[in-house]
Amino acid sequence: MKPIIKLTLVLLLAFTASCYYDSEERLYPKLSDPCKDKDVTFSGTVTQILQPCLSCHSNSAVSGGEGGGIKLENYADVVAVIQSGRLMGGIKHESGYIPMPQGGGILPECQISQLQKWIDNQTPNN
Ligand code: HEC
Repeated sequence: MKPIIKLTLVLLLAFTASCYYDSEERLYPKLSDPCKDKDVTFSGTVTQILQPCLSCHSNSAVSGGEGGGIKLENYADVVAVIQSGRLMGGIKHESGYIPMPQGGGILPECQISQLQKWIDNQTPNN
């Protein structure tokens, strides 16, 4: 084989190989979820996600008869609702649970995965 043909073949091979191994993150940046990598805290993340729920689920709203008795204002109450399975069941719109937030659309995927991460971390009070 002539050297020039050999060189062309090698270059061609290198080129196709580099195309084939292009990283998924670079081609589809949305596939890598920055939410899952972010640190999740109770005070910084969880309370913020649950903030819009407090119109019906604060202590005062619940004692005023709203929110079906589900309190989401403080750490102990949030953990209790999580342990009952109702929090994730509700916000993931799983069957057998009442879909939350009531009257609103499902929470962004990112927020649901952040809550899940906090639960997987044993719900730290941080
Ligand atoms: C507009 C008022 C309202 C808002 C806003 C709201 N909820 Fe609720 N939520 C309710 C009511 C009312 C119930 C009880 C429904 C029932 O028992 O029929 C309830 C029930 C629940 C339950 C129990 C579900 C079950 O299947 O037992 C959970 C968990 C919950 N809410 C979480 C949330 C979360 C998290 C948010 C915010 C993302 C939220 N809610 C926003 C009114 C609301």
